[in-house]
Amino acid sequence: LYGTQAIENNELTIGGVKTSELVKEYGTPLFVYDVALIRERAQGFVETFKDLGVEAQVAYASKAFACVAMYQLAAQENMSVDVVSGGELFTALKAGVPAGRIHFHGNNKSVEEIEMAFDANLGCIVVDNFYEIDLIEQIGAQKGKTMDVLLRVTPGVEAHTHEFITTGQADSKFGFDLNNGQADEAFKVVQAKQNISLLGLHCHIGSQIFETEGFSLAAGKLMNKLGAWRDETGFTPQVLNLGGGFGIRYTAEDTPLEPKQYVADMIKVVKEEAAKLNLDVPQIWIEPGRSLVGDAGTSLYTIGSHKEVPGVREYIAVDGGMSDNIRPALYDAKYEAVIANKANEAADYTYTVAGKLCESGDKLIVDAALQKAEAGDTLAMFCTGAYGYSMASNYNRVPRPAVVFVEEGKHQLAVRRESYEDLVQNDLPLTLK
Ligand code: LLP
Repeated sequence: LYGTQAIENNELTIGGVKTSELVKEYGTPLFVYDVALIRERAQGFVETFKDLGVEAQVAYASKAFACVAMYQLAAQENMSVDVVSGGELFTALKAGVPAGRIHFHGNNKSVEEIEMAFDANLGCIVVDNFYEIDLIEQIGAQKGKTMDVLLRVTPGVEAHTHEFITTGQADSKFGFDLNNGQADEAFKVVQAKQNISLLGLHCHIGSQIFETEGFSLAAGKLMNKLGAWRDETGFTPQVLNLGGGFGIRYTAEDTPLEPKQYVADMIKVVKEEAAKLNLDVPQIWIEPGRSLVGDAGTSLYTIGSHKEVPGVREYIAVDGGMSDNIRPALYDAKYEAVIANKANEAADYTYTVAGKLCESGDKLIVDAALQKAEAGDTLAMFCTGAYGYSMASNYNRVPRPAVVFVEEGKHQLAVRRESYEDLVQNDLPLTLK
């Protein structure tokens, strides 16, 4: 069980609310977010920086899960937010996130998106490439404004969850290569611009990472680059953004660290390098997505049909699937689940949990250990808070689920369920013939 989850009278509760009550009120499939757990995770990061006496920003990587209420929660918990599109930016602004605390990412921002950033006076743009530098300069000149930027660099450290690959040349669509002169060139180009002010450097080494080594390696490389630039030009940008990627526990095989451990280890390296290079300790920014909301989200489904492939496996099917969680189909991602209305019973049945979408690969969990399943039971799938709803689609014209927030015995709708009318609202009738 995660966060405030508990079992009362054989039933799973979240945030002090019975899952049966949520199902009755909002229907299924349903995403349920444990708000207290999101707050706890956010405070864990924010407090750790405070304790270490380092100036910092914890920016919620909102691609993990974005809606108005989530942005408001992030702002309440003193986080900044990272957005990667005009749509996320629009939602964050609509939610009332202070523009100065919004960081804008992306490897192909449009003119309109950069204009939005200027018009809203965003905190910074994380610049990805030379084309974008020119666009920002042009648009800034037209508007008579200056934009703070971070340069996104690829340090040549790539994390694949359990191993780190250090390469001279990082093959990535993102950012300026730190090792082949590209980042140095970008540093020079940006400084010559009138409407751009260089705030710092950014890197992101991967996602679902369980060790601190990769972050430390990257931090060391970036600090050394700051030292080299200071020696050449006398100027040192003040921010080091080390991205997100802190891992979470989806199944028993996953062994993440406490958030504070990731932060403490990266700060240690930054401080050591700063002392060696005789640099001030820069502000440290991070961008956790998954580790803030991943295990705070639970998907509730209603179990329907049942099929046995004799001698092979037993399938149970639920009323959602790859349309609300593409991760098993896309990444072979693993999850655990429980039958919420039989949570105290022994999990001595094995079922493969299939979705309802027209695709054989639409399986949410292969060979899940579960309580005895019957039609009408509620399946609770854990740890679906990150990259579940945010990657949902209308494949098969399946409406997107509702999203509910729970906290201290209370619940509220955060995103309403899509209706069939919603599905056709942008469709137009055939008029050609
Ligand atoms: N910052 C940058 C620049 C990123 O590209 C990402 C994630 C993050 C922060 C947040 O990373 P996190 O803390 O959530 O690991 N759809 C995939 C994950 C894609 C991550 C993309 N970038 C999944 O479902 O596993």
